[in-house]
Amino acid sequence: MSERIAQEHFRSKIMSAHEAAGLIKNGMNLGFSGFTGAGYPKAFPVALAEVITEAHARGEEFKVGVWTGASTAPELDGALAETGGISFRMPYQSDPEMRNAINSGVSYYQDMHLSHISPQVSQGFYGKLDVAVIEVTAITEDGELIPSSSIGNNRTFIEYADKVILEVNEWQSIDLFGMHDVYYEIGALPPNRKPIPLTKPSDRIGQKTLRIDPEKVIAVIKTDASDRNSPFKPLDADSKAIAGHFLDFLGDEVKRGRIPKNLLPLQSGVGNIANAVLAGLLEGPFEQITSYTEVIQDGMVDLLDSGKLAVASATAFSLSPDYANKVNDDAKKYRDLIILRPQDVSNHPELIRRMGVIACNGLIEADIYGNVNSTHVMGSRMQNGIGGSGDFTRNGYMAAFVTPSTAKGGAISCIVPMVNHVDHTEHDTDVVITEQGLADLRGLAPRQRAKVIIENCAHPDYKEALKDYVAHAEKVANGHHTPHDLRTALSWHTKYLEEGSMR
Ligand code: COA
Repeated sequence: MSERIAQEHFRSKIMSAHEAAGLIKNGMNLGFSGFTGAGYPKAFPVALAEVITEAHARGEEFKVGVWTGASTAPELDGALAETGGISFRMPYQSDPEMRNAINSGVSYYQDMHLSHISPQVSQGFYGKLDVAVIEVTAITEDGELIPSSSIGNNRTFIEYADKVILEVNEWQSIDLFGMHDVYYEIGALPPNRKPIPLTKPSDRIGQKTLRIDPEKVIAVIKTDASDRNSPFKPLDADSKAIAGHFLDFLGDEVKRGRIPKNLLPLQSGVGNIANAVLAGLLEGPFEQITSYTEVIQDGMVDLLDSGKLAVASATAFSLSPDYANKVNDDAKKYRDLIILRPQDVSNHPELIRRMGVIACNGLIEADIYGNVNSTHVMGSRMQNGIGGSGDFTRNGYMAAFVTPSTAKGGAISCIVPMVNHVDHTEHDTDVVITEQGLADLRGLAPRQRAKVIIENCAHPDYKEALKDYVAHAEKVANGHHTPHDLRTALSWHTKYLEEGSMR
């Protein structure tokens, strides 16, 4: 293991996770590596959870702020949230314990565009970052860090933290060296920002390693533990139908000459449907596809293997356990096909706009005019967060949303008169796709949009009720641009609450 820590200075800081956790004090802000279950520290958070629990048992206050790249895993979000010791969490999570802590009011949560974190941390909006806790693959002889299976906010956290704790994870393949592209010149704030010199997903503009001031390092922990992502659900008829509609649509766009034969760089959101779209591409006619996205999912690895996908740029892996092992075992091959970047580059609006990324993300509900709720259940309860969906939707060449037309076994329509929370406005939503069909909203005014969304996307069980709502709203609304009856617009949701179909 010691060859993974090639400098004596860092070796002299080796200690147990428990000793390192003992260095943390109540009230500190901690910046963790980790993005969708990849590259998060595996030992330190569990040890810190024990320290917090012991402090609570003694009747002492012990809470920390937890900042990350995005979601993590049970060993980080789950373990810490379970203690009730997270005072503030940002910018994205998807862990059941963390979700409970947020929705029960124990933890504050700021749900943010992932591209905004780095500049906002540098401007001090969240206070001081006391300690960065970063998983790495190895520490080089030059004292630089080979990142592991995600980069996320690591460059920013290492730069702005007072102190750094490193976890060197031997499970991560040493052949990941060369997969990462860490761009440092992005750090300048306005008015000193410069264009980012990246024009296609395959460009490399940075360095292979993360820099670190060795004097900041207070502990080095050795681990040997796999990343923990959940397996994807098997593709069902609905997800296959959604993928089919999307691929037909892309084929039609090519025929019309709007996009090239190999498409434009694709962004694929989190979740099972997004993975199904990738699986659909495997069967589809498109060759030499590229991807400029946030996470590499299983479907993308299959596309790389098939040769259909030429290159994938992201900030992290989001792989099922089998695929995580496969990529790790064959990292030498994949490091030429995959580029992992800091999330302020992978999600940067300037780059997404310049390259004309085709964005495809999941949603919780869309309304008849194309406003999208990606985050809230019943207006108040946080599911996961907006993640990078806003970065890609607002800035992409074309923004698609994919969802089954109903949730909770058909008890809830995902197409509603008025969303109970807005993450993406009608101005940014180009296409909505359900298993029922596809609504191309480009060039349509709100009342035209309503017709297409209801006709093409709503489940037959809800179509008539949605049409009745529109007819009624057109009668009573005080304007005919976006007709609504504000007294009943959200009654869909209150009805679900009364019926008990929405917890
Ligand atoms: N009302 C109430 N609950 C709903 C719902 C609705 N209209 N639609 C979905 N849900 C519930 C599901 O029942 C499920 O609940 P469960 O976990 O209790 O079973 C949960 O939301 C997730 O839905 P699922 O169908 O499994 O969808 P998914 O895995 O495709 O995820 C999102 C959908 C919207 C939650 C997910 O895409 C997300 O978090 N998006 C925001 C972040 C994002 O887009 N990131 C990508 C940027 S790169």
